[in-house]
Amino acid sequence: MSFFRDPLRTEDPIAERRYAYAQAAARDGDFSAAAEVLEQAIEIDPLWAAAWFALGEARQRLGAFPPARAAFAETLRLDPEDRQGAALQLAALDGRDVSALPRAYVTRLFDDYAPRFGAHLTDDLLYRGPAALFEAVRRLAPGRHFARGLDLGCGSGLAGAAFRAIVGWLSGVDLSPGMVELARLAKVYDALAVGDGVEFLRCEPPGEADLILAADVFVYLGDLLPTLSAAARALAPGGLLAFTVEAEPGEGYRLGEALRFRHSRAYLVRALGEAGLQAQVLEPSSTRRELGVGVPGWLAVCGRGRRPRGGQVGPDARGRRP
Ligand SMILES: C[S@@+](CC[C@H](N)C(=O)[O-])C[C@H]1O[C@@H](n2cnc3c(N)ncnc32)[C@H](O)[C@@H]1O
Repeated sequence: MSFFRDPLRTEDPIAERRYAYAQAAARDGDFSAAAEVLEQAIEIDPLWAAAWFALGEARQRLGAFPPARAAFAETLRLDPEDRQGAALQLAALDGRDVSALPRAYVTRLFDDYAPRFGAHLTDDLLYRGPAALFEAVRRLAPGRHFARGLDLGCGSGLAGAAFRAIVGWLSGVDLSPGMVELARLAKVYDALAVGDGVEFLRCEPPGEADLILAADVFVYLGDLLPTLSAAARALAPGGLLAFTVEAEPGEGYRLGEALRFRHSRAYLVRALGEAGLQAQVLEPSSTRRELGVGVPGWLAVCGRGRRPRGGQVGPDARGRRP
C-alpha cells in the first residue's frame, strides 16, 4: 500500500485554523503573532510544508534571517519539487544569484493564475507581447505564410491567436495544465502539450519548424542557451524564432523582485551567437505596464546563423547601433 501525503495540505483542522489566523495576522502586518501561531500549527503537523514556508516569510519580515533560513530549508526538505519557491527565498537570503526558477513553482504559479490570467493581462498590464511579435514578424517577412509553428509557453493562447492566420499547422506547449486548458478552449492550436518548452523542442524533428514563438516566456528562464540551442536545432532553414524578454540594464541576466528574469542586450547577442542563431530584429519593446509605467524589454526575431537583413539589428535601449 502506498501512502501519499501532499506536503502543501494538512488533514488537521486545528493546524488549519492556526494557519488561517496567521495569514490574517500577516495581512495586518503583525508578523510576530503570525510566526507564533505558525509555530503552533507546525507543532501539530510538522510535515506541513505550507506552514513552514509561511513561517519563513513571517520570520523574514521580522528580520530574523537565520530562523527564516531554517524554515525555508525545512520547506524544501518536505517539498523537494519546491512548488512554493523556497529555493528562491534561500538564494535571496544567502545573496546568491539564481539561474532558473523551480519548474514546479512556475507550474503552480500559472495554475493558480489561470482563472484571472486574461483579465489581469489585458486590463491591468495592457499586455501586448503577441501583437508586438506579430508586427515585428510582418515587418521582417511581409506576406509570408509559415507552414509549421510552435508556441513555447503558449499560456491561454494569445500568441497563437495573433499568428493563427499566417501559420498552417500550429502547436503549443506550456508547463501549466491550467493554462493549457485555457489554450484548448481558445481553439487556436492544432496540437497542445503540457510540458517544458526546451524538452518539447528537443523532441521536435530537426529543421522543420518555420516559426517558433516565445511571448513573455523567457522571463521565467535565466540561462537561455539550452532553449535557444534547442530552437536552432528545430528551426527549418529560413525559419524564424520570435521572442520577448525584459531588459536588464547591467550585465548578463538577473532575477528581478517580481521573480521574473531580465536579460541584457549583450547577453542576448552572445547567447544567440553561441546557439547558432542570429538576430534579424533586436529592438527595445515594452509589452506590459506596471504601476502605469512601461516595463523596458527587448523583442527579437532570429534566424539560424543568417546575417542580419541589411545589417538591421535595431538600436539598443540608449538608441545606439551596434
Ligand atoms: C506570462 S505567460 C505568457 C503566455 C503567452 N505566451 C502569452 O503571450 O500570453 C508565461 C507562460 O509561460 C509558461 N512557462 C514558463 N516557463 C515555461 C517552460 N519552461 N516551459 C513551458 N512553459 C513555460 C507559463 O506556464 C505561462 O503560461
